[in-house]
Amino acid sequence: METKILSTSDEDIALAAEIIRNGGVVGFPTETVYGLGGNALDAASSEKIFTAKGRPKDNPLIVHISGLSQWAPLVKEITPQAMALAERFWPGPLTIILEKSDLIPMETSGGLNTVAVRMPVDETAKRLIEAAGVPVAAPSANTSGMPSPTKARYVIEDMMGRIDAIIDGGDCSVGLESTVITLATDKPRLLRPGGVTVSMLEEVLGEIDVDPAVYDKLDDTQKAASPGMKYKHYAPKARVTLLKGSFEKFAEYIRKNADEKTAALCFDGEEKKLGIKCITYGKENDSLSQAQRVFSALREVDETGAERVYARYPDKNEMGLAVYNRLIRAAAFEVIEL
Ligand code: TXA
Ligand code: MG
Repeated sequence: METKILSTSDEDIALAAEIIRNGGVVGFPTETVYGLGGNALDAASSEKIFTAKGRPKDNPLIVHISGLSQWAPLVKEITPQAMALAERFWPGPLTIILEKSDLIPMETSGGLNTVAVRMPVDETAKRLIEAAGVPVAAPSANTSGMPSPTKARYVIEDMMGRIDAIIDGGDCSVGLESTVITLATDKPRLLRPGGVTVSMLEEVLGEIDVDPAVYDKLDDTQKAASPGMKYKHYAPKARVTLLKGSFEKFAEYIRKNADEKTAALCFDGEEKKLGIKCITYGKENDSLSQAQRVFSALREVDETGAERVYARYPDKNEMGLAVYNRLIRAAAFEVIEL
Protein backbone atom coordinates (compact mmCIF):
# COMPACT_ATOMS: atom_id res chain seq x y z
CA MET A 1 0.00 0.00 0.00
CA GLU A 2 1.26 3.49 -0.81
CA THR A 3 1.27 5.76 2.25
CA LYS A 4 0.77 9.45 1.39
CA ILE A 5 2.64 11.97 3.54
CA LEU A 6 0.36 14.95 4.08
CA SER A 7 0.75 18.44 5.54
CA THR A 8 -1.71 20.34 7.73
CA SER A 9 -2.99 22.44 4.80
CA ASP A 10 -6.77 22.63 4.28
CA GLU A 11 -6.52 20.54 1.10
CA ASP A 12 -4.51 17.80 2.82
CA ILE A 13 -6.84 17.70 5.85
CA ALA A 14 -9.80 17.39 3.46
CA LEU A 15 -8.04 14.52 1.68
CA ALA A 16 -7.28 12.74 4.99
CA ALA A 17 -10.90 13.20 6.10
CA GLU A 18 -12.11 11.67 2.85
CA ILE A 19 -9.81 8.67 3.36
CA ILE A 20 -11.35 8.14 6.82
CA ARG A 21 -14.91 8.50 5.51
CA ASN A 22 -14.11 5.92 2.83
CA GLY A 23 -12.94 3.38 5.42
CA GLY A 24 -9.18 4.06 5.30
CA VAL A 25 -6.65 4.70 8.08
CA VAL A 26 -4.68 7.94 8.64
CA GLY A 27 -1.84 8.73 11.07
CA PHE A 28 -2.44 12.16 12.66
CA PRO A 29 -1.03 14.32 15.47
CA THR A 30 -2.80 15.00 18.77
CA GLU A 31 -1.47 16.93 21.79
CA THR A 32 -0.56 13.64 23.48
CA VAL A 33 0.91 11.30 20.85
CA TYR A 34 0.20 10.54 17.17
CA GLY A 35 -2.89 8.41 16.54
CA LEU A 36 -3.94 5.93 13.83
CA GLY A 37 -7.41 7.12 12.90
CA GLY A 38 -10.33 5.37 11.24
CA ASN A 39 -14.14 5.68 11.27
CA ALA A 40 -15.11 4.48 14.77
CA LEU A 41 -18.58 3.44 13.58
CA ASP A 42 -17.21 1.13 10.90
CA ALA A 43 -16.13 -2.35 12.07
CA ALA A 44 -13.97 -2.88 8.96
CA SER A 45 -12.02 0.35 9.62
CA SER A 46 -11.28 -0.72 13.17
CA GLU A 47 -10.08 -4.10 11.91
CA LYS A 48 -7.65 -2.31 9.57
CA ILE A 49 -6.26 -0.34 12.53
CA PHE A 50 -5.66 -3.54 14.52
CA THR A 51 -3.91 -5.13 11.55
CA ALA A 52 -1.67 -2.08 10.88
CA LYS A 53 -0.53 -2.02 14.54
CA GLY A 54 -0.35 -5.77 15.04
CA ARG A 55 -2.52 -5.14 18.10
CA PRO A 56 -4.36 -7.87 20.05
CA LYS A 57 -8.07 -7.74 19.14
CA ASP A 58 -9.26 -7.51 22.76
CA ASN A 59 -7.50 -4.17 23.34
CA PRO A 60 -10.17 -1.49 22.69
CA LEU A 61 -9.67 1.75 20.75
CA ILE A 62 -10.27 5.30 22.03
CA VAL A 63 -12.93 7.20 20.08
CA HIS A 64 -12.05 10.84 19.32
CA ILE A 65 -14.67 13.55 18.92
CA SER A 66 -14.46 17.25 18.04
CA GLY A 67 -17.61 18.50 19.80
CA LEU A 68 -19.78 17.53 22.79
CA SER A 69 -22.82 16.78 20.61
CA GLN A 70 -20.94 13.81 19.09
CA TRP A 71 -20.69 12.09 22.49
CA ALA A 72 -24.27 11.25 23.47
CA PRO A 73 -25.01 8.93 20.50
CA LEU A 74 -21.95 6.80 21.37
CA VAL A 75 -22.89 5.99 24.99
CA LYS A 76 -25.87 4.69 26.99
CA GLU A 77 -25.89 7.71 29.27
CA ILE A 78 -23.65 10.70 29.94
CA THR A 79 -23.65 10.64 33.74
CA PRO A 80 -23.38 13.91 35.74
CA GLN A 81 -19.83 12.95 36.76
CA ALA A 82 -18.88 12.40 33.12
CA MET A 83 -20.31 15.78 32.14
CA ALA A 84 -18.46 17.48 35.01
CA LEU A 85 -15.15 15.97 33.82
CA ALA A 86 -15.81 16.94 30.20
CA GLU A 87 -16.64 20.52 31.17
CA ARG A 88 -13.44 20.83 33.17
CA PHE A 89 -10.92 18.96 30.99
CA TRP A 90 -12.18 18.83 27.38
CA PRO A 91 -10.79 19.50 24.92
CA GLY A 92 -7.64 17.94 26.37
CA PRO A 93 -5.73 14.79 27.36
CA LEU A 94 -8.50 12.96 29.26
CA THR A 95 -10.33 9.82 28.09
CA ILE A 96 -13.65 8.93 29.73
CA ILE A 97 -15.11 5.40 29.68
CA LEU A 98 -18.89 4.86 29.85
CA GLU A 99 -21.26 2.10 28.78
CA LYS A 100 -21.44 2.08 24.99
CA SER A 101 -24.45 2.41 22.69
CA ASP A 102 -25.17 0.03 19.80
CA LEU A 103 -23.60 2.52 17.37
CA ILE A 104 -20.12 1.44 18.50
CA PRO A 105 -19.20 -1.89 16.91
CA MET A 106 -17.61 -4.57 19.11
CA GLU A 107 -14.54 -4.39 16.82
CA THR A 108 -13.94 -0.82 18.05
CA SER A 109 -14.60 -1.60 21.73
CA GLY A 110 -12.50 -4.76 21.74
CA GLY A 111 -15.55 -6.86 22.63
CA LEU A 112 -16.38 -4.77 25.74
CA ASN A 113 -19.75 -3.11 26.35
CA THR A 114 -18.03 0.16 27.29
CA VAL A 115 -16.46 2.84 25.10
CA ALA A 116 -13.56 5.22 25.77
CA VAL A 117 -14.06 8.74 24.37
CA ARG A 118 -11.83 11.79 24.26
CA MET A 119 -11.88 15.26 22.68
CA PRO A 120 -8.34 16.32 21.70
CA VAL A 121 -7.29 19.97 21.97
CA ASP A 122 -4.71 19.76 19.16
CA GLU A 123 -5.84 21.95 16.27
CA THR A 124 -4.93 19.49 13.49
CA ALA A 125 -6.72 16.64 15.25
CA LYS A 126 -9.77 18.82 15.73
CA ARG A 127 -9.83 19.94 12.09
CA LEU A 128 -9.48 16.35 10.89
CA ILE A 129 -12.30 14.96 13.06
CA GLU A 130 -14.56 17.85 12.07
CA ALA A 131 -13.82 17.38 8.37
CA ALA A 132 -14.31 13.60 8.60
CA GLY A 133 -17.78 14.17 10.10
CA VAL A 134 -17.58 10.87 12.02
CA PRO A 135 -16.07 9.96 15.41
CA VAL A 136 -12.49 8.79 14.85
CA ALA A 137 -11.18 5.64 16.55
CA ALA A 138 -7.47 6.05 17.19
CA PRO A 139 -4.91 4.12 19.17
CA SER A 140 -1.35 5.46 19.42
CA ALA A 141 0.30 5.22 15.99
CA ASN A 142 3.13 2.85 16.97
CA THR A 143 3.55 -0.80 16.15
CA SER A 144 2.03 -2.67 19.11
CA GLY A 145 4.58 -2.89 21.95
CA MET A 146 6.82 -0.05 20.69
CA PRO A 147 7.04 3.40 22.34
CA SER A 148 4.19 5.71 21.27
CA PRO A 149 5.22 8.19 18.53
CA THR A 150 5.57 11.86 19.49
CA LYS A 151 6.97 12.89 16.07
CA ALA A 152 5.73 12.17 12.51
CA ARG A 153 9.13 10.59 11.79
CA TYR A 154 8.38 7.73 14.19
CA VAL A 155 4.94 7.12 12.65
CA ILE A 156 6.64 6.92 9.25
CA GLU A 157 9.16 4.43 10.69
CA ASP A 158 6.43 2.15 12.03
CA MET A 159 3.59 2.59 9.54
CA MET A 160 5.01 3.27 6.05
CA GLY A 161 3.21 0.95 3.61
CA ARG A 162 0.70 -0.17 6.27
CA ILE A 163 -1.80 2.74 6.26
CA ASP A 164 -3.24 5.16 3.69
CA ALA A 165 -1.72 8.46 4.86
CA ILE A 166 0.24 10.24 7.60
CA ILE A 167 -0.29 13.91 8.46
CA ASP A 168 2.97 15.55 9.57
CA GLY A 169 1.90 18.03 12.24
CA GLY A 170 5.19 18.46 14.10
CA ASP A 171 5.98 17.33 17.65
CA CYS A 172 3.30 16.48 20.24
CA SER A 173 3.21 18.91 23.17
CA VAL A 174 2.23 16.63 26.09
CA GLY A 175 4.26 13.64 24.90
CA LEU A 176 2.42 10.90 26.83
CA GLU A 177 -0.98 9.38 26.06
CA SER A 178 -4.14 10.70 27.68
CA THR A 179 -5.28 9.92 31.20
CA VAL A 180 -7.91 7.13 31.07
CA ILE A 181 -10.67 7.02 33.70
CA THR A 182 -13.65 4.69 33.80
CA LEU A 183 -17.04 5.80 35.11
CA ALA A 184 -18.55 2.44 34.17
CA THR A 185 -17.62 1.09 37.63
CA ASP A 186 -19.31 1.84 40.99
CA LYS A 187 -16.54 4.28 41.91
CA PRO A 188 -14.52 6.26 39.33
CA ARG A 189 -11.27 4.43 38.64
CA LEU A 190 -8.06 5.64 37.01
CA LEU A 191 -6.87 3.09 34.46
CA ARG A 192 -3.96 4.98 32.90
CA PRO A 193 -2.23 8.08 34.34
CA GLY A 194 -1.48 11.01 32.01
CA GLY A 195 -1.52 14.79 31.72
CA VAL A 196 -4.71 15.14 33.77
CA THR A 197 -3.44 14.01 37.19
CA VAL A 198 -5.16 12.16 40.06
CA SER A 199 -5.42 15.35 42.12
CA MET A 200 -6.95 17.26 39.20
CA LEU A 201 -9.56 14.47 38.79
CA GLU A 202 -10.25 14.41 42.53
CA GLU A 203 -10.96 18.15 42.52
CA VAL A 204 -13.98 17.34 40.34
CA LEU A 205 -14.99 13.85 41.52
CA GLY A 206 -13.84 13.54 45.12
CA GLU A 207 -11.78 10.45 45.93
CA ILE A 208 -11.17 8.05 43.05
CA ASP A 209 -9.70 4.55 42.87
CA VAL A 210 -6.39 3.96 41.14
CA ASP A 211 -6.25 0.64 39.34
CA PRO A 212 -3.46 -1.59 40.73
CA ALA A 213 -2.15 -2.07 37.17
CA VAL A 214 -1.06 1.59 37.17
CA TYR A 215 1.76 0.78 39.61
CA ASP A 216 2.45 -2.91 39.37
CA LYS A 217 2.54 -5.87 37.10
CA LEU A 218 -0.66 -7.90 37.14
CA ASP A 219 -0.17 -11.57 37.91
CA ASP A 220 -1.80 -14.18 35.70
CA THR A 221 -4.87 -14.51 37.93
CA GLN A 222 -5.82 -10.80 37.81
CA LYS A 223 -8.10 -9.53 35.06
CA ALA A 224 -6.96 -6.21 33.53
CA ALA A 225 -9.59 -3.46 33.79
CA SER A 226 -7.80 -1.82 30.90
CA PRO A 227 -6.73 -4.54 28.47
CA GLY A 228 -3.80 -2.41 27.25
CA MET A 229 -2.21 -2.60 30.72
CA LYS A 230 -1.56 -6.33 30.58
CA TYR A 231 0.76 -6.24 27.58
CA LYS A 232 4.47 -5.45 27.54
CA HIS A 233 4.57 -1.94 26.28
CA TYR A 234 6.50 1.10 25.17
CA ALA A 235 9.65 -1.00 24.99
CA PRO A 236 12.72 -0.31 22.92
CA LYS A 237 14.63 -3.32 21.59
CA ALA A 238 17.29 -2.86 24.27
CA ARG A 239 16.66 -4.34 27.74
CA VAL A 240 15.81 -1.52 30.15
CA THR A 241 16.31 -1.60 33.93
CA LEU A 242 15.30 1.19 36.32
CA LEU A 243 17.87 1.99 39.02
CA LYS A 244 16.29 3.46 42.13
CA GLY A 245 18.52 5.72 44.21
CA SER A 246 20.60 8.92 44.12
CA PHE A 247 22.58 10.05 41.08
CA GLU A 248 25.82 9.26 42.95
CA LYS A 249 24.76 5.63 43.41
CA PHE A 250 23.55 5.48 39.81
CA ALA A 251 26.95 6.71 38.55
CA GLU A 252 28.74 4.19 40.77
CA TYR A 253 26.56 1.34 39.45
CA ILE A 254 27.30 2.40 35.86
CA ARG A 255 31.06 2.50 36.56
CA LYS A 256 30.96 -1.06 37.86
CA ASN A 257 28.53 -2.64 35.41
CA ALA A 258 28.54 -0.83 32.06
CA ASP A 259 30.33 -2.07 28.94
CA GLU A 260 30.38 -0.80 25.33
CA LYS A 261 26.85 -2.19 24.74
CA THR A 262 25.39 -0.22 27.66
CA ALA A 263 23.63 3.17 27.56
CA ALA A 264 22.18 5.33 30.31
CA LEU A 265 18.76 7.00 30.28
CA CYS A 266 19.36 9.93 32.60
CA PHE A 267 18.26 13.47 33.42
CA ASP A 268 19.48 16.59 31.60
CA GLY A 269 23.05 17.53 32.53
CA GLU A 270 23.95 14.10 33.98
CA GLU A 271 25.22 12.86 30.60
CA LYS A 272 28.45 14.80 31.09
CA LYS A 273 29.28 12.91 34.26
CA LEU A 274 28.74 9.28 33.27
CA GLY A 275 31.34 8.49 30.60
CA ILE A 276 29.06 6.15 28.58
CA LYS A 277 26.47 6.68 25.85
CA CYS A 278 23.62 8.67 27.39
CA ILE A 279 20.15 9.66 26.32
CA THR A 280 18.45 12.27 28.50
CA TYR A 281 14.74 12.35 29.29
CA GLY A 282 14.10 15.77 30.81
CA LYS A 283 14.99 17.64 33.97
CA GLU A 284 15.30 15.77 37.27
CA ASN A 285 12.50 17.45 39.21
CA ASP A 286 10.29 18.39 36.28
CA SER A 287 7.90 15.62 35.27
CA LEU A 288 6.35 17.74 32.50
CA SER A 289 9.69 17.88 30.71
CA GLN A 290 10.20 14.15 31.36
CA ALA A 291 6.78 13.37 29.86
CA GLN A 292 7.61 15.32 26.70
CA ARG A 293 10.89 13.46 26.26
CA VAL A 294 10.42 9.92 27.51
CA PHE A 295 9.00 8.23 24.39
CA SER A 296 11.47 9.93 22.03
CA ALA A 297 14.26 9.00 24.42
CA LEU A 298 13.20 5.35 24.35
CA ARG A 299 13.35 5.40 20.55
CA GLU A 300 16.73 7.20 20.56
CA VAL A 301 18.09 4.48 22.85
CA ASP A 302 17.71 1.96 20.02
CA GLU A 303 19.37 4.34 17.57
CA THR A 304 22.54 4.19 19.73
CA GLY A 305 22.70 0.43 19.19
CA ALA A 306 22.79 -0.23 22.95
CA GLU A 307 21.60 -3.64 24.13
CA ARG A 308 21.41 -2.77 27.82
CA VAL A 309 19.97 0.43 29.27
CA TYR A 310 20.07 1.64 32.86
CA ALA A 311 17.49 4.33 33.54
CA ARG A 312 17.11 6.89 36.31
CA TYR A 313 13.98 6.29 38.43
CA PRO A 314 11.45 9.14 38.08
CA ASP A 315 9.54 10.90 40.82
CA LYS A 316 5.98 9.47 41.00
CA ASN A 317 4.17 12.65 42.04
CA GLU A 318 1.44 14.24 39.89
CA MET A 319 2.43 13.98 36.19
CA GLY A 320 5.40 11.87 37.32
CA LEU A 321 3.04 8.93 37.89
CA ALA A 322 2.40 8.83 34.14
CA VAL A 323 6.14 8.94 33.36
CA TYR A 324 6.77 6.15 35.90
CA ASN A 325 3.87 4.07 34.53
CA ARG A 326 5.35 4.12 30.99
CA LEU A 327 8.98 3.61 32.02
CA ILE A 328 8.23 0.68 34.32
CA ARG A 329 6.52 -1.07 31.39
CA ALA A 330 9.39 -0.24 29.04
CA ALA A 331 11.55 -1.96 31.68
CA ALA A 332 9.16 -4.94 31.93
CA PHE A 333 8.94 -4.03 35.67
CA GLU A 334 12.66 -4.60 36.29
CA VAL A 335 13.88 -2.31 39.09
CA ILE A 336 17.14 -2.47 41.07
CA GLU A 337 17.24 -0.67 44.45
CA LEU A 338 20.64 0.95 44.84
O1 TXA B 1 -3.61 10.07 24.12
C1 TXA B 1 -4.20 9.06 23.73
O2 TXA B 1 -5.10 8.53 24.37
C2 TXA B 1 -3.77 8.49 22.36
C3 TXA B 1 -4.09 9.53 21.28
C4 TXA B 1 -3.91 8.98 19.89
O3 TXA B 1 -5.38 10.02 21.48
N1 TXA B 1 -4.41 7.23 22.14
C5 TXA B 1 -4.04 6.09 22.82
O4 TXA B 1 -4.72 4.95 22.45
O5 TXA B 1 -3.18 6.08 23.66
P1 TXA B 1 -4.20 3.48 22.81
O6 TXA B 1 -5.11 2.60 22.05
O7 TXA B 1 -2.76 3.35 22.52
O8 TXA B 1 -4.49 3.29 24.32
C6 TXA B 1 -5.82 3.16 24.77
C7 TXA B 1 -5.84 2.58 26.15
C8 TXA B 1 -5.49 1.11 26.15
O9 TXA B 1 -4.73 0.81 27.30
C9 TXA B 1 -6.86 0.46 26.21
O10 TXA B 1 -6.82 -0.82 26.79
C10 TXA B 1 -7.66 1.46 27.05
O11 TXA B 1 -7.16 2.72 26.67
N2 TXA B 1 -9.09 1.41 26.75
C11 TXA B 1 -9.72 1.84 25.64
N3 TXA B 1 -11.05 1.59 25.71
C12 TXA B 1 -11.26 0.98 26.90
C13 TXA B 1 -12.41 0.46 27.57
N4 TXA B 1 -13.60 0.50 27.00
N5 TXA B 1 -12.24 -0.09 28.79
C14 TXA B 1 -11.01 -0.14 29.36
N6 TXA B 1 -9.89 0.33 28.80
C15 TXA B 1 -10.00 0.87 27.58
MG1 MG C 1 -0.82 2.73 22.74
